[in-house]
Amino acid sequence: MKDQYNRDINYMRVSVTELCNLRCRYCMPEEGIAKKAHEEMMTAEETIMAVSAAARLGIRKIRITGGEPLVKRGIVKLCGAIADIPGIEEVCITTNGTLLPKYAKDLKAAGVDRLNISLDTLNPEKYHHITRLGELSDALAGLKAAEDAGFTNIKINNVLMGGFNDDETEDFVNLTREQPIEVRFIELMPIGGGIGFDRAQFVSCDTVLEKVPQLRSLNREEGVARLYALPGAAGRVGLIRPVSCDFCEGCNKIRLTADGKLKPCLHSDQEISLKGLTEDQMEETLRGAIMDKPQKREELGADSPSKAGRDMNQIGG
Ligand code: GTP
Ligand code: 5AD
Ligand code: SF4
Repeated sequence: MKDQYNRDINYMRVSVTELCNLRCRYCMPEEGIAKKAHEEMMTAEETIMAVSAAARLGIRKIRITGGEPLVKRGIVKLCGAIADIPGIEEVCITTNGTLLPKYAKDLKAAGVDRLNISLDTLNPEKYHHITRLGELSDALAGLKAAEDAGFTNIKINNVLMGGFNDDETEDFVNLTREQPIEVRFIELMPIGGGIGFDRAQFVSCDTVLEKVPQLRSLNREEGVARLYALPGAAGRVGLIRPVSCDFCEGCNKIRLTADGKLKPCLHSDQEISLKGLTEDQMEETLRGAIMDKPQKREELGADSPSKAGRDMNQIGG
């Protein structure tokens, strides 16, 4: 359905857990987070009802997020149930990839269409440093498992951090020469763990184009990414600029947290609960939330953190 600013809202990001097997510095605190009471979280049945209600209002694309969605018990079955809902045309997952060796095949069979995998560095020590708990070899095995399971259009999410991985930009771009993947560089957002980063670590996506001037614009956008490619490359490069630009005018999405709160805008503290409602009530609540989606986010920068009121692992990116 359209919101009051005539934006067609057809994409819902559904976080299925706040928990994660990693602790990326820009996302989660080192000690992890307190597990909330079971009764506060959406049950699988409620999540399925919420997606069905959303589908009745014109939501066509679902992205399953977390935390790390693959740590959620029953994730394959839940994805399958969501893929079967009439009206849902695309089910995607954003994952850190480390559990894909275990789940990729089953997710494909369950009807998951696409995977986006977070990978900020190709150096094992740096990977361990940024994720605090992860091993690069697990993430790379996950990427391979996804390809072996038959997933195509795989995207790699690389959060740009000055002084940490900006020396690897070219290596990441080079991955697209032979492999038909999309490497996306994302500007670090002052949200969650990102709020504590120093000013110098917030680098703009423009630095990618400065470092790799051979990149050619494809003159189009897909979702929040502006697309580029190396001449003759099998894959492509996406630049996501949540800080230096805003995508509010074309924003087509709403978010649902694992504890059942609708967030019409990532950067607003406005939350509307679906927990405990019937499917019809969920539909009415969703309709209201879409109508009340803010026109624009407030200023965002190193000195003006997001007003999201939650960490990224609780929102799902
Ligand atoms: P596609 O369906 O492949 O286009 O994926 P996506 O970009 O919608 O999802 P993904 O989870 O891979 O998100 C990539 C990055 O973009 C994450 O860091 C998200 O937080 C960020 N992002 C996605 N949508 C928005 C948005 O509406 N606003 C802001 N500020 N950031 C967003
Ligand atoms: N800034 C930018 N991207 C972030 N992500 C998590 N926290 C931040 C942040 N502060 C990204 C992850 C993942 C996606 C869901 O969100 O790297 O790719
Ligand atoms: Fe986990 Fe993803 Fe957050 Fe890293 S960014 S801690 S992998 S939820």
